[in-house]
Amino acid sequence: MSESIKVSPLKKISGELAVPGDKSISHRAAILAGLSDGPCFVENFLPSEDCVNTLRAMGQLGIRYEIENGTEDHPINLTIHGCHGQLEAPKKELDCGNSGTGMRLLAGVLAAQEFDSVLIGDESLSSRPMGRIITPLAEMGAQFETKGKKPGCAPLHITGGTLSPITYEMPMASAQVKSAVLLAGMFAPDKTTVIQPAINRDHTERMLNSFGVKVRTEGNTISVYGGQKVRARDLVVPGDISSAAFWIVAAACVPGSRLLMTNVGLNPTRTALLDVLVRMGALIKDHVHHNDGGEARGNIEVIGRQLKGTEIKPEEIPNLIDEVPILAVAGALAEGRMTIRNAAELRVKETDRIETTTENLRLMGADVHEFEDGMIIEGGQNLKGAPLDSFGDHRIAMAFTIAGLLAKEGSTTIANTACVATSYPNFSEHLKEISQR
Ligand code: S3P
Repeated sequence: MSESIKVSPLKKISGELAVPGDKSISHRAAILAGLSDGPCFVENFLPSEDCVNTLRAMGQLGIRYEIENGTEDHPINLTIHGCHGQLEAPKKELDCGNSGTGMRLLAGVLAAQEFDSVLIGDESLSSRPMGRIITPLAEMGAQFETKGKKPGCAPLHITGGTLSPITYEMPMASAQVKSAVLLAGMFAPDKTTVIQPAINRDHTERMLNSFGVKVRTEGNTISVYGGQKVRARDLVVPGDISSAAFWIVAAACVPGSRLLMTNVGLNPTRTALLDVLVRMGALIKDHVHHNDGGEARGNIEVIGRQLKGTEIKPEEIPNLIDEVPILAVAGALAEGRMTIRNAAELRVKETDRIETTTENLRLMGADVHEFEDGMIIEGGQNLKGAPLDSFGDHRIAMAFTIAGLLAKEGSTTIANTACVATSYPNFSEHLKEISQR
C-alpha cells in the first residue's frame, strides 16, 4: 500500500459538497437487488473498492448487472438483474477485499445455499473476528471452517444448506451480525429473531421492508419470516454521512467556517455525530428533503464555532462508531475534556482504532489517555503538523487529513492512503476543492 496525502493548516472550511453514496446501503443494495425477482435500477451506488467487491461477488454467484453510468471499477448507476433467490455456485473464492460488511453479510446469504463457498479478504480483513457471525449461523445449521493465520478469521469456508430459524441474542450491538442473521433468516422456515443490546444502524431492516420482505422491529427485537418474495425495486443511495463527517467536523471546529453538505443520508441510526457536535456547541441544521425506500436524505448546514468537550453517552456509541476517529480530532481541538468510553468495538475495525487514533493524536501534540474501551482527550491544545500513518485504515487516513487542516502550524503527511479508495474514492478531489476556497 502506498500513496500519501500532504496538507497544511487552513484558516476556515467553506463551500458546498456532495459526498458519494452510502457504503452500508450500497452493499445491501447489491445483495438484495441480486436476490430480487427482477431488474432494479440502483442510482448513486458507492463506486468504492469495498462495494465493488460485494457487487463482483454477487456477479460470481450468477447475478448480471449493467453499468449505466460510471465504469467497471467505479459503477455509479447500474441495473442489477435479480435471480429470484436462485444463486449459482461460485467457480472460485469470493474476494471481499477490506470489507467486514461485505464478508459478514454475504456469509449470511451463503449459509443458506446448497453449495460450498469460500470468502477471502485482505490482510486487515483476514485478522478480523468472524466468530461473531459463525456462532448464530452455525446454530441455524450452516457449517464453517476458518483457515486464517489467526483463529476464527478468514478465509471462511462455508457449507450452506437448509437452515432452521433461531432467536439470537447478540452480545454486541453489531449491524453486520444482525444483518447476517436476518439475511439467513429469509431462507429459513418460520420466524428468525435477533435481539440487539442497543440500537444500531437499521439499513437492512429498512431495505428488506422496501423490497417487500416484512421485518418487524419492536424495541430491540427484530424478526423476519422466511420464504417471503424479494420484490425488485429501483432505489437511490443517499450520500454517506460517515464520509460527510470529515468535512462536517472540519467546518464545525473552525469559527468563520460555513459548509453545506447536500444529499446526505439522515437515517437516525447514523446521525449521533450531529447530536454530539451540537452538544459541543456547533451550529448544525439538517433538513430532510427525500425519504425513499425508508431512508431519509437531505442537506446538512454547518457553521463553525469554538467547541467544548463532552462525554459520549453509551447508547450513542453504536450510532457514531465509524465517526469516532474524526470526533476524537474534534475533541482535541475543543475546550475541556472529551470522554469516549464503551467503544471496545473500535479495536476490531479495519485497524484497532483506539490505538491508531491515540497514536496519531499524540504525534500531533494532543493529550490523550487510552483505555481498553476508549479514550479521554484533554482538549484545548493546538495540534501541530506531523508525519503520520494511516496504518492502512481509510477512516484514520481521512480523519488525520482533517486534523492536518485544523493544525495550528506545520504540514502533516499521512502515509499509506491508498486505503481511502475503499470508501471515498474522490476524497482527494474534494480535499483540493475545499483547500482552494
Ligand atoms: C456496518 C456496520 C458497522 C460499521 C461498518 C458498517 C454495516 O460495523 O462499523 O463500517 O454496514 O452494517 P458493526 O456492525 O461490526 O458494528
